[in-house]
Amino acid sequence: MKVDVLLGLQWGDEGKGKVVDVLTPGYDLVTRFQGGPNAGHTLEFEGQKYVLRSIPSGIFQGDKINIIGNGVVLDPALFKAEVEALEASGHPLTKRLKISKKAHLILPTHRLLDQAYESAKGEGKIGTTGKGIGPTYTDKVSRNGVRVGDILHNFEEKYNTAIKRHKELLAQYNFEYDLATLEKDWFEGIACIRKFELIDSEHVINDAIKAEKKILAEGAQGTMLDVDFGSYPFVTSSNTICAGACTGLGVAPRNIGEVYGIFKAYCTRVGSGPFPTELFDETGDLMRKNGNEFGSVTGRPRRCGWVDLVALKYAVMINGVTQLIMMKSDVMDAFETIRACVAYKINDVITEEFPYSIEGEVEPVYAELPGWQIDMTKMQSEDEFPEEFKAYLNFLEEELEVPIKIVSVGPDRAQTILR
Ligand code: GDP
Ligand code: IMO
Ligand code: MG
Repeated sequence: MKVDVLLGLQWGDEGKGKVVDVLTPGYDLVTRFQGGPNAGHTLEFEGQKYVLRSIPSGIFQGDKINIIGNGVVLDPALFKAEVEALEASGHPLTKRLKISKKAHLILPTHRLLDQAYESAKGEGKIGTTGKGIGPTYTDKVSRNGVRVGDILHNFEEKYNTAIKRHKELLAQYNFEYDLATLEKDWFEGIACIRKFELIDSEHVINDAIKAEKKILAEGAQGTMLDVDFGSYPFVTSSNTICAGACTGLGVAPRNIGEVYGIFKAYCTRVGSGPFPTELFDETGDLMRKNGNEFGSVTGRPRRCGWVDLVALKYAVMINGVTQLIMMKSDVMDAFETIRACVAYKINDVITEEFPYSIEGEVEPVYAELPGWQIDMTKMQSEDEFPEEFKAYLNFLEEELEVPIKIVSVGPDRAQTILR
């Protein structure tokens, strides 16, 4: 079978973790293909809440195999903490989780470099998650990285060479650090990684494709954070788009099947960078409060605004989205009128095409639709949808030219309506 890809169409935190968990019963393998512990994927079921960072969100559904693919960057210390938290809550992982030997390791000094680069940028900082993502991918591309598979051969030599280079880089910044403490946790993390099967994941995945197994690839971050197509330079350092699943797993483009594009009924962003529909008023505050929009990794308040169809159409195009999934519809229950940005006005020119840059004066042009002001959180089927909500769905489907197949009306696994 082909590999289905689920990915974010906005600036991350669309609700990918929740939906991967919901879809997992229909799959044999769930894989992560890029990003690292900058991700925070939240799942809620049976009164429990879990936040996953490097481990795929298929881990809770029976004996499915979960794979951390070659495109992921893995921090051993954070990975160990994640494993221990899951095992303590009754979810043993060693048989269900495998790790690609080609995934790159986030070294303790990558985290320090991330922090040093950010402080040096001052006002222009990206607002990264501080997890060492940028420096690790930089080392991968400049061919200085250390990979999970290196744990098995000449590890110390490779580690020490990289650390020496990083210390020289850090010396250029006025930056104090305590490497010994970080290293202690890090090497305990390496011991934890050794308990898992380290695999040539591209072979495992392609064998599974041949054996007609069903595979789901779980994206991290979102299209507007993609290093090529996002709001550069305020992006992450990987390809978060569908093509990232090909390089991050070793899957040929012709073996990609469904592309699930996931978006919130409004829009959020954490960290710096442009956000044309951002709201600075009580409407934005209400979205943040009702949507509980605080980062699952950093706890930072998320910036909130209306849904941006110019950006969403672009994301649908870049990813070849075949099915849309709309999250957090319930957060819109509170509003008398719903707005959706259908064009940008830039220097008095109106455009529906996502431009080279959205920095500077980009004025959103809004369509207005009547709100429904009915509590949707207990609804179980689309027959219960209020007329205004149906009209909102139709409007979005016409604009985006892709069907909305899943509607989420609350954080719990059960609050999911398939259409
Ligand atoms: P991800 O990074 O894409 O997996 O998303 P996050 O987990 O970072 O953020 C999504 C947040 O919204 C989490 O706190 C989820 O529990 C929550 N959530 C997901 N779907 C819904 C929904 O339909 N309604 C509400 N109110 N919350 C939701
Ligand atoms: P999930 O998978 C939201 C943002 C950071 C920052 C920028 C670069 O949970 O949707 P990085 O640490 O990657 O170098 O930070 O990207 N960012 C995210 N925002 N959700 C995420 O992941 C994010 N991962 C990174 O806030 O603006
Ligand atoms: Mg998240």
